[in-house]
Amino acid sequence: MSRKLKAGIIGSGFIGSAHIEAIRRLEFVEVAALAQDTQEKADRKAEQLGVPLAYGDYNELLANPDIDVVHNCTPNYLHYDINKAIIAAGKHVLSEKPLATSSMQTAELVKLARERGIIHGVNFNYRQYPMMKQLSEMVKKGEFGDIRLVHGSYLQDWLLYDTDYNWRLDSQAGGRSRAMADIGSHWCDSIQYVTGKRIAAVFADLWTVLPVRKKPVSGSGETFGDGADNHQLYEEVPIDTEDYGSVLLRFEDGSKGVFTVSQVSAGRKNALSFELNGTRKSAAWKQEEPAGLWIGHRDRSNEMMLADPALFLEEARSSIHHPGGHHEGWPDSLKNMMLHFYSYIRDGKDPERDPCGFATFADGHLSMCITDAILKSHERQQWAAVEL
Ligand SMILES: NC(=O)c1ccc[n+]([C@@H]2O[C@H](COP(=O)([O-])OP(=O)(O)OC[C@H]3O[C@@H](n4cnc5c(N)ncnc54)[C@H](O)[C@@H]3O)[C@@H](O)[C@H]2O)c1
Repeated sequence: MSRKLKAGIIGSGFIGSAHIEAIRRLEFVEVAALAQDTQEKADRKAEQLGVPLAYGDYNELLANPDIDVVHNCTPNYLHYDINKAIIAAGKHVLSEKPLATSSMQTAELVKLARERGIIHGVNFNYRQYPMMKQLSEMVKKGEFGDIRLVHGSYLQDWLLYDTDYNWRLDSQAGGRSRAMADIGSHWCDSIQYVTGKRIAAVFADLWTVLPVRKKPVSGSGETFGDGADNHQLYEEVPIDTEDYGSVLLRFEDGSKGVFTVSQVSAGRKNALSFELNGTRKSAAWKQEEPAGLWIGHRDRSNEMMLADPALFLEEARSSIHHPGGHHEGWPDSLKNMMLHFYSYIRDGKDPERDPCGFATFADGHLSMCITDAILKSHERQQWAAVEL
């Protein structure tokens, strides 16, 4: 077998660690290095995660000629500079979402990545679930007829209390939008992927439910930390990004939709769900019960399809790895992301010519343009077009 591809990870908090685990499920890639913001943190993470090389500055990782692919898993405000540096170093790049914090930046990143000829991806992992691939192929084959309506929500509760704190709550670190850019972006990517239609205009109503929060004066603040080091001493800080938002949608073909996001809905952990209503049938899917696809009929009983390679369309089988009843979930969506991204690199595919099974920087730019339109619509309280 030829040499394994070597990956370097910048930022190994919640999602960086999940990238490492997912990469390790591929036999043709190895995790060679990680970088943190200090050498001490990098050494600690490298030991915890069993990664051979640790850098206290990501530029040192980029200077290592053996690294083929770099994952950007840092907080949002660093995405633009780090993605730019990865491209300049000539490495393939898999960035976390959002691709940057403004659509001017994301447009520039798309241009730079294309000019440099590297492979670029954004981790919109919900489109990587086996059932999402199956549904997108069913839609393409016209099983549901024309999709007229799309509706749903993405609800979480991890920021319910005013003592819940994370870097995302600081707009300097997270960007001008929080709930929309953080989780609304996943919902929009997922439904554009399954319907094959772009969101063309939005009408948004956003709300900062908790305008003041208690920020711990010490602690790592990594996402979904156990809180053991938090909440002893805190300072009250004003919050200027949304906890909640509802958005009316118009798609490019005139069809319509609506969705709600919230990070303050008690009992909802990672509840991304949606329903499509077509001219022939409906479909509904929930991330927390990912193996099931509800199919709604007018003239006969409704169905519940369960993920099973034997029942899947041929085109969807590359996204399902276990027999029916052996459910694949969130970590498996990351495995699929890595599988599709790294196979594309291994097979020498050309992004200008060969279709790819993952979200690219162009999708990351579209996502940022939708977020910008949502913010503009909310500010003006009127419809805003998504301008690419
Ligand atoms: N696709 C998904 O489902 C998903 C899920 C969670 C997070 N994310 C995205 O991943 C990114 C990180 O989120 P997280 O929840 O893992 O945050 P986190 O706070 O848990 O981890 C961020 C890590 O980056 C490190 N870091 C900070 N500055 C750095 C620097 N200059 N160089 C190197 N490392 C640095 C921090 O020390 C920390 O380890 C965000 O952009 C977020 O939107 C995506």
